[in-house]
Amino acid sequence: MEELLDHISSEIYQKSYVIVDNFVEEDFRKALLGEQIQLVNQGKFRHAAVGKGGQKQVRTEIRSDEVLWMDAEELSPLQAAYWAKIEEIRQVLNQRCLLGLRSFEGHFARYPIGSFYKKHLDQFNAVPHRVVTVILYLNDSWTPEDEGALRMYFPQEDRTELFEDVLPLGGRLVVFLSGEIPHEVLPTKKERISITGWLKNID
Ligand code: OGA
Ligand code: MN
Repeated sequence: MEELLDHISSEIYQKSYVIVDNFVEEDFRKALLGEQIQLVNQGKFRHAAVGKGGQKQVRTEIRSDEVLWMDAEELSPLQAAYWAKIEEIRQVLNQRCLLGLRSFEGHFARYPIGSFYKKHLDQFNAVPHRVVTVILYLNDSWTPEDEGALRMYFPQEDRTELFEDVLPLGGRLVVFLSGEIPHEVLPTKKERISITGWLKNID
């Protein structure tokens, strides 16, 4: 973990994002996925909203995933173990990148077949305190034919834009600066399961 944390912090410092494969072990991933499927089957997921506070609304033409916010007081032992890993990331990013991260919020996400999330930034006027986005994919298997990639955009100085597509492979962790990397979830051809969260600079 020590080396991994080194890697994560130096990549965030140098290029604002990092992709780590096999961030969690297979048994751990499968167990987390199992818990999440159970919550889905219990009907606990809701259409995700965009905006915040009074402006919050479901806009399925912008995003059509379903989410369940995690309650820090009600974490299962597995979920708590995942939060503990994120806490280590928080600390190393504070030490090495001086990001002033103070808390974490996150939700389970499920993208049913055909769903997507149009291009956006995770940090915007309504949620200025999100500094770092952390996503863990839990899918059992994924191939390019399943589509549903995370597309990250990298604006260039000549105003063109490069992008990189990242498949939601199980165990893969993606970390990026919420205010710097516009991204989208391309329409998925298979149910797509993940945990998405944000390290924030407020409590
Ligand atoms: C989000 C998001 C990306 C993904 O929830 O804000 O952009 O790959 N998720 O799930
Ligand atoms: Mn996002």
